Amino acid sequence: MSALIRVSNLSKTFAGGFTALDHIDLDIERGEILALLGPNGAGKTTLISIICGIINPTTGTVTVDGYDIIADYRKTRALIGLVPQELATETFENVLATVTFSRGLFGKTPNPEHVEKVLTDLSLWGKRHARIKELSGGMKRRVMIAKALSHEPRILFLDEPTAGVDVELRKDMWQLVRILRESGVTIILTTHYIEEAEAIADRIGIINHGRIILVEHKAELMRKLGKKELVLDLRHSLAAIPTALAAYNIELSADGRQITYTFDSNQDRAAITHFLDNLTAAGVQFKDLKTEQSSLEDIFVSLVNEAE
Ligand SMILES: Nc1ncnc2c1ncn2[C@@H]1O[C@H](COP(=O)(O)OP(=O)(O)O)[C@@H](O)[C@H]1O
Ligand SMILES: [Mg+2]
Repeated sequence: MSALIRVSNLSKTFAGGFTALDHIDLDIERGEILALLGPNGAGKTTLISIICGIINPTTGTVTVDGYDIIADYRKTRALIGLVPQELATETFENVLATVTFSRGLFGKTPNPEHVEKVLTDLSLWGKRHARIKELSGGMKRRVMIAKALSHEPRILFLDEPTAGVDVELRKDMWQLVRILRESGVTIILTTHYIEEAEAIADRIGIINHGRIILVEHKAELMRKLGKKELVLDLRHSLAAIPTALAAYNIELSADGRQITYTFDSNQDRAAITHFLDNLTAAGVQFKDLKTEQSSLEDIFVSLVNEAE
């Protein structure tokens, strides 16, 4: 099946001449949770704003369920719910009226059952007569989500859903996202928290300086995380790696005094022991050893630096 959202060669240069998005290609699959992970200013909100039809791209195209976001704006927008980064909650309206009104904005016929279900799922039904102004921060966020879901969208964008939210609320939010996905909604969220992407995403797209640096299934990223390096300082320099060690993924430094062995700590816990046994058998002596693990944080930092 083809991608639900297809972003092709998308760029955005603002009126002042600043290029916030630089040739973005991205496919978003039906039913997935995709996290767009990147530092502040990376271009996450700009990308979402274009897909949702709030700002125009400079070049490139986006289709949603096969429809072009500009030529078929009404169709694509109706498929999308957006929870913006900035919460507009200084309203005197009550919860029920606000969410019902949001649905009407999309030209949908009234459906009190749907609105009740959304409010119930978000634990807001008991607060339906409360004024939004009077709600806690966490509840205000839920109201914003309820508004975004009021017209039964197939896709939900959450722009920094947990920025400035405490740990408990953050976990509630993750749980909510999982429940929504189970109901068949495709979810795209932006975040600058690595743990957040790790906790809920199926795939993670890393974005920096307006470019997508990498899009990967989380499992694949985690596999990369499992990679460990063992670095050995040798007692005597080697001209070449002994043939008895050829089967190992090892590298010899240019001066022949250091060996780096890369292995997968998830798969083979005994890897180091075997390797060291074989090393000794091959007559290689070392005076020091250390292991290093790459974390998502390391991968992120090195990718971001590489791209600069
Ligand atoms: N309307 C605008 N005019 C000029 N520059 C903008 C505008 N909106 C955003 N930018 C710039 O584009 C870059 C990306 O912004 P944004 O998409 O909001 O990043 P993120 O959401 O990843 O933090 C930032 O450097 C920001 O200052
Ligand atoms: Mg943003």
